[in-house]
Amino acid sequence: MRYLRADAAHPIAVTINGRPYAVQAEPRLLLTDLLREVIGLTGTHTGCEHGVCGACTVHIEGIPQRACLTYAVQVDGRSITTVEGLAPSAAPLTALQSAFREHHALQCGFCTPGLLMSLSHLVESEPDADEARVREVLSGHLCRCTGYQGIVDATMDVLAAQRRDGAT
Ligand code: FES
Ligand code: FES
Repeated sequence: MRYLRADAAHPIAVTINGRPYAVQAEPRLLLTDLLREVIGLTGTHTGCEHGVCGACTVHIEGIPQRACLTYAVQVDGRSITTVEGLAPSAAPLTALQSAFREHHALQCGFCTPGLLMSLSHLVESEPDADEARVREVLSGHLCRCTGYQGIVDATMDVLAAQRRDGAT
């Protein structure tokens, strides 16, 4: 185990959305603050900052994780995807992002980046997920203004389309 001095910055190397970064991080620096304040990727939102709302969800090594519960030094040597990495600016929206738009699955959009990160992992890793499973994943996220039906409908549409495409 490597013990870190609390009063010193430590060099970390991290890959974010396919791009390598080398930064100095104090041991108490949260991953949310690394992403937003140091790197400038503000698509990852901070709401509760104690693991409840899901707004800060990113992929670490492909798995959805709460960035507000992760220290920057913990991602040394790891690969992270943020909402900006789902569909880089030159690319079209992902199927899930398009479905969110079609089903009015967002209003203010504050919760949306975290939802997209969790649900994109779901549709990729569990193509046979049913509505109950989608709602189970949604239970890890709070949306204060949209209501969840449009989000469920968007995700179910993507799952159905994947199954149709896989069957042809
Ligand atoms: Fe991380 Fe709410 S800001 S779960
Ligand atoms: Fe506003 Fe979810 S769209 S909090």
